[in-house]
Amino acid sequence: MWAEEKKKLIKLYVPNGDECNASRKVAEELKEKISGIVSKEHIDVVEIAIVGSIARGTYIKTKTPDIDIFLLFKDTVNLENIKEEGLKIGKIAINGETRYAQHPYIHGFYKNFEVDIVPAYKIMDPSIMKMSAVDRTPFHNAFVLNKMNERMRIDTVILKQFLYAHDIYGAEAKISGLSGYLTELLIIYYNTFENLIKHVAKWKPPVKLSLTGDGHYNGFTEPMIYIDPVDSSRNVAAALSIDCLSKFITLARRFNDNPSEQFLFKKEVKIASKEELIHKLKERGTEILVIETKAPEVVDDILYPQLKRFVKVVIDSLERYGFKVVNGVYDLVNSRIVILIELYSLSLPALELRNGPPAWNDNSNEFLNKWLNSKRSLSYPFIMDGYWWVYVRREFNTAMDLVKDRLQTWNPGKNITEILSEGFSVKKIDDSAEDSLMPPLTKLMKLEEPDWLTFKGGESLQ
Ligand code: UTP
Ligand code: MN
Ligand code: MN
Repeated sequence: MWAEEKKKLIKLYVPNGDECNASRKVAEELKEKISGIVSKEHIDVVEIAIVGSIARGTYIKTKTPDIDIFLLFKDTVNLENIKEEGLKIGKIAINGETRYAQHPYIHGFYKNFEVDIVPAYKIMDPSIMKMSAVDRTPFHNAFVLNKMNERMRIDTVILKQFLYAHDIYGAEAKISGLSGYLTELLIIYYNTFENLIKHVAKWKPPVKLSLTGDGHYNGFTEPMIYIDPVDSSRNVAAALSIDCLSKFITLARRFNDNPSEQFLFKKEVKIASKEELIHKLKERGTEILVIETKAPEVVDDILYPQLKRFVKVVIDSLERYGFKVVNGVYDLVNSRIVILIELYSLSLPALELRNGPPAWNDNSNEFLNKWLNSKRSLSYPFIMDGYWWVYVRREFNTAMDLVKDRLQTWNPGKNITEILSEGFSVKKIDDSAEDSLMPPLTKLMKLEEPDWLTFKGGESLQ
């Protein structure tokens, strides 16, 4: 019975009142420490706010939550000073490092907790002032605390664990899933976890939600739009990818049909053995290209979009040169980037069919002159379906040669492009492939078993 199982899950994953107070106390301690630094250094901070899941008691108990502290500055202080002073405080308080995502913040540790110290502006009236993404956060905090009761807090954590178990919790670029604030707003909208799931099972993107009822969805193009109740110009679900949304809908359908605690347990991904993978690869008859390079030292939110682009530019370029690509994946192995691309074949015949202009076009002479005199021609130009054509010797007959020669010009993003100029390696998967390549290879070949598609749960929800 789901109701019984849920009780167990709550004990397992949802912090109780005492536990919430204990973690809030650590955050309060750090806040006091920061407060002392602010007065001593005469820094222009008007408020220090504890926000995020510790302030709301909505963190998953089995994962140590991060302490989110916002340093709120007067809106008369300029942005450069905010960064400088914020960094100074973060250094003194937790000896943290500055990280740059869309906005600079300080990241470090305090008593085993990860800590984010984020400088932002103190906005008095959100309807008048233009706010940046971080300036809204204190309003999110107030809004959620105001709307949520104890039962909703519990269901929020259950929802977070449901998402986390299937790798779709977190708005960071690495995941592109649902943010903590979005999960809270979903429970506020649908009231209970079970009611939410029932509705999600029927969602068809684009999904449009608004609490205020006067939501203007115009101008938003994302697969899910949830108008931020504290700022109607923002979509809270902007970072959610169509793939994570589709997985959420599928999970909701399956849970709805067969509710089970199994959906909330995070399963280890089983990596296929090298023998099995090499055997399967022979069965597929395809070939796999491996590109390896050092990973640049930048935060994940900067790195991951570039990794996705890296795979895409390599696939697009291979196809432009005539190679037939099946799919590609990226991975990080011991701070090295690994790109795996599966192709029908790593080599192509020397011959390539080149297409020219319609025979009656004035520029057909140019085409004829070029190929009648080229050493690369393998035939005379000929007319077919009204167009000029010619058989020529292909520029790159192997994917390896192409990638070695051209990779540095494909520009997957600033930091990776810089790293590529320092060197990279290109090889293919064969019997001598290192074991470290098996996880991305399992992923590329779609041999990670999706337990959420294969296990059976209990009885259907009413
Ligand atoms: P966190 O990412 O730490 O999330 O952002 P969280 O709500 O505390 O949840 P967990 O338990 O750590 O996963 C802290 C706050 O910053 C704001 C939200 O208000 C969030 O509650 N925030 C964060 C945004 O507005 N946008 C973001 O992209 C990230
Ligand atoms: Mn947090
Ligand atoms: Mn955080």
